[in-house]
Amino acid sequence: MPIPERLNPTLRSASTLAVDRLEDARNRLIVALDVPDAASAAALVRQVEGSCRWFKVGLELFVAAGPAVLEPLLAGGYSVFLDLKFHDIPNTVASAVRSAAALGVRMMTVHAAGGPAMLAAAREALEGVNNPPELLAVTVLTSMGQLQMDAIGLNRPPSQQVELLARMGMEAGIKGFVCSAKEVAALRSLTGPESILVIPGIRPAGAESGDQMRTATPGEAIRQGASYLVVGRPITQAADPAEAAEAILKEMAEAL
Ligand code: C5P
Repeated sequence: MPIPERLNPTLRSASTLAVDRLEDARNRLIVALDVPDAASAAALVRQVEGSCRWFKVGLELFVAAGPAVLEPLLAGGYSVFLDLKFHDIPNTVASAVRSAAALGVRMMTVHAAGGPAMLAAAREALEGVNNPPELLAVTVLTSMGQLQMDAIGLNRPPSQQVELLARMGMEAGIKGFVCSAKEVAALRSLTGPESILVIPGIRPAGAESGDQMRTATPGEAIRQGASYLVVGRPITQAADPAEAAEAILKEMAEAL
């Protein structure tokens, strides 16, 4: 019996592969819903629906709208990344992680700078949770350059600090990290092919960097080994968010 075309790589046409790569890119793009209320979030989701499978809910929207803002996203079949970057004493973070896991999100963040005991407590809080979210440790914020680091007493370069925090996180059993595209290649070789590396600070060529310092284009971030890209303003502030998202997807697909 002949092997169906879709199962036989030698028969797959270039156009089929291009479609597959675009689909792969769509699964790796996380659009940041950095908007002030649920109505604005719903409007943005409508504008980019079809372009992505993931939305990130961060502090601005979650503080304003609460957990209810997740419901339409989950009901719409989207995966949700809850990016609240917990950083507190281990007991408080563990409890908050448990509460967040109960919301049905697929990824969530804590700050690696909370230290090994906090990271271990966060990880342990997910043990026994049914279908738990991926727990990601934020290394060094993409808005931090050397001056910002020096100001808080971190005199080593961001790349070294990212590596130190990732090594510490791995020892505490953390398997996913948030870093900039500048460090992702080093973290990929440190953490291995299975780890989840999420990269914000994405700026297509010519885009405003805003408050972000350690930025890269979508293509660069993918080529360096990113698992997922988080994109906010280059999509949300674009005159046509869907068109901006599709341009980013095309660049990601070409780099895959
Ligand atoms: O608008 P922009 O693309 O810069 O948005 C980046 C998003 O990623 C924001 O929601 C921000 O909170 C988040 N983020 C980040 N740097 C990190 C972790 C998360 O910029 N290290």
